[in-house]
Amino acid sequence: MRIFLIGFMGSGKTTVGRPLAGALGLHFVDMDHYLAETQHKTIGEIFEAIGESGFRALERQTLAELSLAENTLVATGGGAPCFSDNIQTMNRAGTTIYLQLSPEGLAARLQHGRDKRPLLRGLNDEELLSYIRTTLAQREPFYGQARIIVDCDGYSDAQIVEKCKKAVEFMPRNTK
Ligand code: S3P
Repeated sequence: MRIFLIGFMGSGKTTVGRPLAGALGLHFVDMDHYLAETQHKTIGEIFEAIGESGFRALERQTLAELSLAENTLVATGGGAPCFSDNIQTMNRAGTTIYLQLSPEGLAARLQHGRDKRPLLRGLNDEELLSYIRTTLAQREPFYGQARIIVDCDGYSDAQIVEKCKKAVEFMPRNTK
């Protein structure tokens, strides 16, 4: 089995992904963490060195590698499904789960995670909400191609893990 968790920055892909992988008996890989380790740089340093387009090329390459990993749950970067043919790659290789949140829900979760994310660095509260609204609207058509969509607004991380687990268990066996 192979699962890809997708969703906007701050949607909880890593926080939910790790216990979900444990509950399903899968290995857990955080894609940004894996990419940063292979490049020996932080995501911020990669953006500074080769810009967003360079980062997207590395992201595509990393996803191609991780699409071959067996019995693995991959927490992807927020932009990963929205560039190149990445969403098709994920849908071919395994089960995609979209952690869906409203712009307000995401802004609340991103209050303290701004500085380590190059695309959010330096935004004030108002700018953050407006960035999320605009970017989420552009990305929804890609996120919406996920096989499973989980509404996360108002739920705790533990409840979201449970919702995802049930959705996966509910899938017909030959499609997992
Ligand atoms: C990005 C999301 C980040 C990281 C990079 C770009 C995006 O991952 O891949 O900063 O374009 O949404 P998280 O979703 O884990 O923050």
